[in-house]
Amino acid sequence: MDRKILLDKIDIPGIRSFGVFQNAGGYSAVEKALTTMSPEEVVEEVKLSGLRGRGGAGFPTGMKWSFLDRKSGKPRYLICNADESEPGTFKDRFLMEKIPHLLIEGMICSCYALGVNTGYIYVRGEYKYIIGILNEAIREAHANGFLGKDILRTGYDLELHVHSGAGAYICGEETAQIESLEGKRGNPRIKPPFPAVVGLYGCPTVVNNVETLANIGFIVNHGGGEYAGYGVGKSTGTKLISACGNINNPGVYEIEFGLSVREFLYSDKYCGGIKGGKALKAVIPGGSSVPILPAHLILQTASGEERLMTYESLADGGFVSGSMLGSGGFIVFDEEACIVRNTWNLARFYHHESCGQCSPCREGTGWMESVLHRLEHGKGRQKDIDLLVSIAGKIEGNTICPLGDAAAWPVASAIRHFRQEFEAHVEAAVCPVSQIH
Ligand SMILES: Cc1cc2nc3c(=O)[nH]c(=O)nc-3n(C[C@H](O)[C@H](O)[C@H](O)COP(=O)(O)O)c2cc1C
Repeated sequence: MDRKILLDKIDIPGIRSFGVFQNAGGYSAVEKALTTMSPEEVVEEVKLSGLRGRGGAGFPTGMKWSFLDRKSGKPRYLICNADESEPGTFKDRFLMEKIPHLLIEGMICSCYALGVNTGYIYVRGEYKYIIGILNEAIREAHANGFLGKDILRTGYDLELHVHSGAGAYICGEETAQIESLEGKRGNPRIKPPFPAVVGLYGCPTVVNNVETLANIGFIVNHGGGEYAGYGVGKSTGTKLISACGNINNPGVYEIEFGLSVREFLYSDKYCGGIKGGKALKAVIPGGSSVPILPAHLILQTASGEERLMTYESLADGGFVSGSMLGSGGFIVFDEEACIVRNTWNLARFYHHESCGQCSPCREGTGWMESVLHRLEHGKGRQKDIDLLVSIAGKIEGNTICPLGDAAAWPVASAIRHFRQEFEAHVEAAVCPVSQIH
């Protein structure tokens, strides 16, 4: 259960450069796709692979590609979503920094499959140094005939451009990202129409995550069937997990789907256990926007089955006793962590990042932040706890984009699983952990 697809070449010295990457087999997927496969055949292999989007929602990539309107007569675009602003998620940064040509190779194959001649990489503005790395990789690919006009003398033309984000989490949402690329404020659009029909500049557009696109080279080279042989069930392939918090080995790991959460958390190959030998209290398994789970529910499902690192197993139990794989940001809390303080911290983030278009999100995130602030500082009332549940319930499902849900779920789940800790803050009139009041 530890086969690699994305990071198998990561330790080769100089792998960031074109020459070393190509010597290690890189760009063979572009040669294969452009010279031996039709675009439709590439799409079919991606469908067969079972690859699901790694940006958070897990939507099947091949299906998303097949929705792209190819009959409009307008140009089509591919946008690589490299905004990565989700707290706890730092896997795309790792890929782009260490092995940028894997993304460029995947993008060329994807653009070819989609009939795209112009692609964009929308990079989180704070990743300034990565913009330089990507531009250098694009320059090298150009110089070696893998980008530009008449690639490999096949008649296929493609240009890739890197675009810097401006520091807003909402610009990771695909329609906000399209607005931002067009030079406007990054407000999410109402869907439908979906980007596959009306996207960038009013043209059919696919938006895919960095990790999703980095998988395409392997699928082209080895076939969708072989890719689907990695992982378990509908969680095919591997997943990059960024692990952080109170663990011995924070970092980015490539796991094959199906690994147990227990092994991921405690094996020295991965997180290496809880720092200082303390007990595990909770985990947010998929970046800050998914429900938090207490120790007993992250290691086992409510029905007593071993919890696995898969889309299905992490979601087992729905929002009563389960969570989501999300973007793969694995945030670990030990027994001394204060759940109220953490929840307040996240609420502050979502309030700050709400674009303000929808009243439930604009107003609700602010109310959640201020109620959590007073609870954490010992000034809360018992009825504040149900007030928070009520506000979260009024945001969820009532906004244009899922940022509202992302703000509501951490609060609702923290209270669902750790209500006594909230009550203890009120009773003690102080944070029992930090003694803040
Ligand atoms: C508030 C918000 C922020 C998001 N941020 C990101 C991001 O940084 N990177 C990303 O790939 N997807 C992000 N998404 C998901 C995108 O909207 C979109 O689903 C994703 O890029 C599709 O790519 P995939 O199908 O390859 O996963 C975000 C969604 C929301 C609602």
